[in-house]
Amino acid sequence: MDIMEILRTRRTFRAFTQEAVPKEVLMDILEAGRLANCGANRQSLRFAVAEKPEDVAKLCELTKWAAAIPNGAGTPAPDQRPTLFIVVLQDTSIPGHSDIDVGIAVAGMTTAAWAKGIGSCIIGTLHREKTAQFLGLPENLQIHTGIAFGYPAHRSTVVPLKDGQKSYWRDENGDYYVPKYELEEIVHYL
Ligand SMILES: Cc1cc2nc3c(=O)[nH]c(=O)nc-3n(C[C@H](O)[C@H](O)[C@H](O)COP(=O)(O)O)c2cc1C
Repeated sequence: MDIMEILRTRRTFRAFTQEAVPKEVLMDILEAGRLANCGANRQSLRFAVAEKPEDVAKLCELTKWAAAIPNGAGTPAPDQRPTLFIVVLQDTSIPGHSDIDVGIAVAGMTTAAWAKGIGSCIIGTLHREKTAQFLGLPENLQIHTGIAFGYPAHRSTVVPLKDGQKSYWRDENGDYYVPKYELEEIVHYL
């Protein structure tokens, strides 16, 4: 895939096969986080990695999936959970935190994964206090965002956004459809 094809198809996935993420792909994902651009080169991000099924299951319990899908149907079933979960942490002892730093790191990590066929779901809705307890984090490490990874067990397709309806949906096969604006609706040329 060329980079635009990767970006076009790098969607959110919420159900996964149980094939493990290969170690070399995990290392690519972490390298993407390590090398990410960051304001003043402050490098305040840290990464907690869970690969054991019981740890991933525990983290999944502390997260909320697919708010737009009714009846919790977007939550991965036990046999479709991610096989890797990375929690992006900020070291608060380093001054000048930026959500942009996290966004750039997360985008790089999910793109590096998808280039190797590993899908992801960025998780903003997680129980931060319980997750911090579970991870046994020291005071200075604050949870920012989680990312679930694994080989996708469904498809996800971008569709045109109609009548302002931005909510994604899921069909009877569990495949997702994600409405996005067309370029001419969001770009202003001078
Ligand atoms: C900052 C951020 C937080 C998100 N948090 C969650 C979440 O807590 N649970 C979830 O299921 N999806 C979450 N998502 C995934 C979004 O719902 C998804 O990106 C959006 O619906 C668009 O779909 P796409 O990623 O396929 O373009 C999050 C995405 C981002 C960028």
